[in-house]
Formats: sequence, C-alpha cells, structure tokens
Amino acid sequence: MGKLWKGRFKSSTHPLMEEFNQSLRFDHELWRQDIEGSIAHAKMLSEVGLLDKADFKAIQGGLTSIAQDFAAGNIPLDPANEDIHMLVETELTARIGEPARRLHTARSRNDQVATDLRLWTRSKQDLLDKRLAQLELALVKLADREKKLVIPGYTHLQRAQPVLLAHHLLAYVEMFARDRERLADCRRRTNVLPLGACALAGTTLPIDRESTQRKLGFAAIANNSMDAVSDRDFVVETLAALSLIAIHVSRLAEDAILWTSSEWRLARLDDAWSTGSSIMPQKRNPDLLELARGKSGRVIGSLVALLVVLKGLPLAYDKDLQEDKEPLFDAVKTTDAVLSALTEFFPTLTFDQDRATELLSGGFLDATLLAEYLVEKGMPFRTAHDISGQLVRQAEERDVPLSGLTLTEFQAIHPDFTREVYERLDPARAPDFYRSAGSSGRRQVARALAAWKKRLS
Ligand code: ARG
Repeated sequence: MGKLWKGRFKSSTHPLMEEFNQSLRFDHELWRQDIEGSIAHAKMLSEVGLLDKADFKAIQGGLTSIAQDFAAGNIPLDPANEDIHMLVETELTARIGEPARRLHTARSRNDQVATDLRLWTRSKQDLLDKRLAQLELALVKLADREKKLVIPGYTHLQRAQPVLLAHHLLAYVEMFARDRERLADCRRRTNVLPLGACALAGTTLPIDRESTQRKLGFAAIANNSMDAVSDRDFVVETLAALSLIAIHVSRLAEDAILWTSSEWRLARLDDAWSTGSSIMPQKRNPDLLELARGKSGRVIGSLVALLVVLKGLPLAYDKDLQEDKEPLFDAVKTTDAVLSALTEFFPTLTFDQDRATELLSGGFLDATLLAEYLVEKGMPFRTAHDISGQLVRQAEERDVPLSGLTLTEFQAIHPDFTREVYERLDPARAPDFYRSAGSSGRRQVARALAAWKKRLS
C-alpha cells in the first residue's frame, strides 16, 4: 500500500527524505497507547453516529489482534511506514479492509501522537513513582539496620560534626519524596486529553471529546485545540523532574563512592556490585555508583535538548515536535534502570564500625558541642566559640583530642569548667545531645525513621 497521505502528490518522495522523516524506529514504543487511543476514538465515533456498529466491531477486533501480535513480537517494523500511527493503520487496513478507512475520521496524527505520548508518559510517571518508593524503602531499611552508627558529617568536605548514618541516609529519602511530589504534580497536567483537537482547529463533525476522555481515563480535555497539538510542557516537566532525580541519585552515588573509597574505608562494596580491573588485581571498583552518577548527564541533556527544540516554535504542530520522543524515552529508561539497580545495591552495602570510630576521633568534631555546652552555662556564644577554639588549638599543639586535655588546662582557660565537660567530648555520643527538631539527635532520628516506615509501608 502507498502512503496514507499520497493523494495530492504526483511523484514519490526521495529515499533520503523518507529515511530522514522516519520515526517508526523509535516511536514503535507507543504501539500500546496508539491502539488503546484508537479503540476509544472508534467507540466514541460509533456513539455519535459517525461509525456504524459493525464497522466499530471490525475496527476493535482488528486493533485487538494487532495488539496481541505486537505483544508477541510478530509485527515487523516495516520502514515503509513513516511512524507507529501509519503502521497500525496500514496493518488494520490489511486485516479488515474498508472499515479501517473510517478510523481516522475527526482525527489527525497531531492530536493522535499528543494523546499517545500523554498516555505513555502518565504510565511512566506511575512506574517511576513506584521505583522511587522502592529506593526510599531500601534506604530506610538500611538506616534502620545501621541506626546506631555515628559517622562524621561534613561541610566543605571537611569533617564538621558527628551525625547518625541514618540521618544522612534519610536526607536522601527526603529528596526522593520531593521527587515523587514533583512527578505527581506534573502528572496532573499530563492527564489531559488532546484528542479531538484534530490537526489544529478542531472539526466540523459532531464528536464527543468528553466520552473519549472518560474512556482513556483522562481527568479533563484540553481547552484549546491549537495548544492541544503543540503543547509538550508535560514532557518538559517530566524531564525536569527526572533531571532532579538524576541529580539526587548522583549525589547519593558520590557519597557512597567516598564511603567505599580506599581513603575513607567506611563502607565496603559487596562482590555482587563491585568490578575488578583488567590490570590491577587488587581493585574493587564502584562502577555501578559511577554510572549512576554519570548517567545524570544524559538525563539533563534530554531536558536541554527538548527545551531547545521547543524554543521559538510557531503554533501549532511542527515536525520538530517529533524530536520530543527519543530524549523522553531515553531519560525514562535510564532513570528506571538507575533506580532499580540502586534499590538492589544499597541493602548490600556494609559499614565498618571501627573505622567510623577512627574517623570520628580526628578533626575535633566535638568542638561545636563544647561551645554549646558553655552557652548552656550562660556564656555568650561568641565567647564560647572563642574558648572552644583556643582549646582546639591547644589540643592540636599537643596532638590529642579535646578529651585529652586535663581539667587544669580547661580551667586555665575558664574557671567555670568542671569534670562534667568530658561527657560532651565523645563524638560518638553527640547524637545523645542534639535536641532540636530535625536534628541528628537519637530521638529525632528514631522518630523520623518510624514516620518513614509508616509512610512507606
Ligand atoms: N510522527 C509524528 C510525530 O511524532 C506524528 C505526527 C505527524 N504529523 C504530521 N502532521 N506529519 O510528531
């Protein structure tokens, strides 16, 4: 069969034009949504009298059998078809003949592709929400398993104050929870039906868009037919949400890379998730984590690519819009793979308590606690900061931790010091003393853990 739009042309298209124009090689990804959309459209046409019952039955039967064959991998992706929409229609015509010629009534590929892509994106938003929840749960379980472990917390990548590992992990759970909110939010704007906008102006035919909307589970119909066929905001928003997920994942991966590095040695990679070197026999490399970090590049690249495609496009549909699919498909596939792998990986990460103690012992992590202790005794914070700083300098000169200074040395700097001060000078005990809401205090973190467990169960 020739092209479905061949009517007004005398001669055929140049082979290079054909190849260049072709989107089937990637948009076959949309076959399920294309068929689902067509069945709903045909049903609506039959309801309003634009298609008789027998033709609708033939179309529905034909499309259903095509779906089965797609699922079984039995539909060859013949490049003679420009895109998935043409392929499905050509296939339907081959199977049921004449009635297939009525399916495209009151429809254009412009509103059709926008509808397919919204259906596809909506289902992937739901899938990625599930993936994020699974990763959150894996992190919460790890935090729970290691809930006693105190590690150095950093600012400027300099050891700063002791924190619970659980607190550090739950920081990522907070990020992923915001990511889920963002996906849910852009899902609302994705869940709007463009079909019925036709090419750009709507139609003179008596269609019922609300009926199609209900059949496809959309929350509303697009208000403006020109906007409906040209709007790709939902793709941009999804890619922006995925970019932020990629950034959170990349930061999490980087933390785990540092923890498992030869310098830190705070955590150990399980064999199942480490890779060796082809030349250095001793190596255990964190390839998974590095790839998770690196793949953020392509996800963010997808967002930028689409934004550039959209900039300056005149209304309504332009073929440039075909360039929306590959970045979206790739970003979704990448995000799915990264989240799935990290969810399996984190439970296998093991931490070394002795090494944590060793890391806590250097760097005067208790200096801030000491200053706050003096504030509790009534001292102005700036004075307390100064005194704690002087004590750090002394301890550094003698190469001992703050707890290695004698009470006489403390009292020489300020007469109010008593033995009690030593209680605050054990970094591993810092979480017993943090008390502000949202802090790394034992009680606050236990409460946060319990809340996350409940929320995610
Ligand atoms: N393959 C096209 C796309 O992805 C479908 C819409 C084509 N519309 C048209 N007027 N040529 O955008």
